[in-house]
Amino acid sequence: MEAARVIIIARILLLVQIPVAVLHTVVWGQGGSDSAVVAVYNISAPAGSEAVLQCHSQRMVWTQDRLRDRQRVVHWDLFRSGPDFTMERVLDMFSAGEQRIYNAYNKDRVGMDKTAFDDGNFSLVIKDVKTSDRGIYSCNLHHHYCHLYETTKVQLNITKSPRRERRFWDGEKAVFVVLQGSTVLLPCVNRRPVWTESHSEEDQQVVHWDRQLPGVRHDRADRLIDLYASGERRQYGPLFLRRKMNITADAFSQGDFSLTVSNLQQPDRGVYSCHLHHHYCGLDERRVFHLSVDPPAPRAHRSPPHPPPRRPE
Ligand SMILES: *[C@@H]1O[C@H](CO)[C@@H](O)[C@H](O)[C@H]1NC(C)=O
Ligand SMILES: *[C@@H]1O[C@H](CO)[C@@H](O)[C@H](O)[C@H]1NC(C)=O
Ligand SMILES: *[C@@H]1O[C@H](CO)[C@@H](O)[C@H](O)[C@H]1NC(C)=O
Ligand SMILES: *[C@@H]1O[C@H](CO)[C@@H](O)[C@H](O)[C@H]1NC(C)=O
Repeated sequence: MEAARVIIIARILLLVQIPVAVLHTVVWGQGGSDSAVVAVYNISAPAGSEAVLQCHSQRMVWTQDRLRDRQRVVHWDLFRSGPDFTMERVLDMFSAGEQRIYNAYNKDRVGMDKTAFDDGNFSLVIKDVKTSDRGIYSCNLHHHYCHLYETTKVQLNITKSPRRERRFWDGEKAVFVVLQGSTVLLPCVNRRPVWTESHSEEDQQVVHWDRQLPGVRHDRADRLIDLYASGERRQYGPLFLRRKMNITADAFSQGDFSLTVSNLQQPDRGVYSCHLHHHYCGLDERRVFHLSVDPPAPRAHRSPPHPPPRRPE
């Protein structure tokens, strides 16, 4: 008669452990990789346990463009200083749609190129400038799908004297003093692909896990898993390693890219990295885990998940 074997899994949920060094400033990775290291964790767990290296990003969930419309919008707003301090929308334009000019007095006088979302030139042209055009203009670019927002400001002053015309940078924004009745171009140029490309590929959203054995540099790390938003999965290394380390199939819908390492043993120690990469939206982040393996937990602290099976008489 054999003594019943109790399978003990001490599940180490690293959520309850304290990240020892969450970096507040962004550190750029070495070895030609330009991903930003957003967090570093020191983790230790007893041999035989299951470790879950927590890697979450809600941004990877938000940036799933199921409609594939890549909706972007630009709007120019005008802030008038004293006496009434008002903010007004001058015009807006969607990547797919028409340009809207909000006020009748700006029709045929104020405009932006219709091709702005193709060439990245969102500059505003104002013809026949008047004293009432004075104020701080802001060019605002919104990307709904990538959750990006960029703003450029220009201050416009009007003068009646050609001698007073000038342009300078006041430390925060451009300031233009222009002659009344002339035509002015308020610059807003942003040629980043995210604003100008409408047909980028879906498969550029990917999570990679890799591991550096002790003494190995990051650029020589072993790739463990690649999982694409399309569902394509690649696992590397010998079969026992592929069985031992895995991420869930619904990672991209939950934003949970955590790596589970079962039956932790001494050879599993090393530096693990979770890379989240979203080419189109420009997200490129890395979370680093220094994993060490302690001696097996003493029996007294173990709690078997199931009662030992009773042998039939
Ligand atoms: C993390 O662990 C390494 C050695 O494994 C040690 O050198 C380092 O100081 C630790 N960092 C923190 C913040 O505890
Ligand atoms: C942007 O477009 C305007 C015309 O709307 C043009 O005058 C200006 O030179 C362009 N700027 C750049 C940087 O292409
Ligand atoms: C622009 O106009 C504002 C408000 O009229 C004034 O306070 C400021 O001195 C002007 N700046 C320049 C550079 O003309
Ligand atoms: C890893 O997890 C996925 C999804 O749960 C599963 O389909 C796959 O078979 C697992 N891989 C291994 C090697 O166990």
